[in-house]
Amino acid sequence: MSEFATLSVMDLKERLLALMDRKNHWAFPVLTRPGLTRAQHLVHFRAEYMVYVRDFPVLLARALGQVPDVLPVRKALAENIYEEQTGGLSKTAPHPELFLEMMQGMGYTRADFADTQLRPPARAYREFLLEKSASAPWTSAVALLTIFVEGSANERAELAGTFVRKTGDAAIDAHPLVVHYGCPKSAMRLARAHGDVEGGHRKDAWEMVLGSTAHDPALEEDAALTCARALDLWLAYRDDVVAEMGITRG
Ligand SMILES: [Fe+2]
Repeated sequence: MSEFATLSVMDLKERLLALMDRKNHWAFPVLTRPGLTRAQHLVHFRAEYMVYVRDFPVLLARALGQVPDVLPVRKALAENIYEEQTGGLSKTAPHPELFLEMMQGMGYTRADFADTQLRPPARAYREFLLEKSASAPWTSAVALLTIFVEGSANERAELAGTFVRKTGDAAIDAHPLVVHYGCPKSAMRLARAHGDVEGGHRKDAWEMVLGSTAHDPALEEDAALTCARALDLWLAYRDDVVAEMGITRG
């Protein structure tokens, strides 16, 4: 029996949580420990910026553009886009700009992030996000962006209340770039904005996706398969980034 045949008897929430448990690349601890060179770090940051950070508000807008008259979903997506593209809810700035502010704190320039040529695995993941965000069924586009892309391996624990996201100064004080790499706290408004608003977005995301698929087996299947494909592409992308950084397993 295939993995998916086994999973298909589970409900969508469990299928998506099982995928999110695996959104945990083996090299992640290396990225949050001291010891990386500036050049290694730049490879990682440039890829993240170009693959989804810069255009995340637009990806959300593509999904919103195909949502039918389902008011709670349109409203939640619109609020998410407003925060991502303006920083209006967190009283900060557009999140892609906050990312570049963090990069300037790390000593990089804006020019370091212009016209990054993506390697094939990064391009494949980015193109999947672009295509699926504007493809039917809209429920899968919403699941892809708000559960898979915005969510993390902490999803299960966060829903259970056993993982509590750091907010305010605590989100900045504990950030690895501050702790290990000397990034000034003034450049870390992105961590504060995420700490302050993302908890609400996580709740919205699960309510939107589980409510709008409403136990329709075909919609549930499509959402789960879309996120499973995203996980495969994401893992291949992350493998390639750490290979380019010269990080080897073990
Ligand atoms: Fe964000």
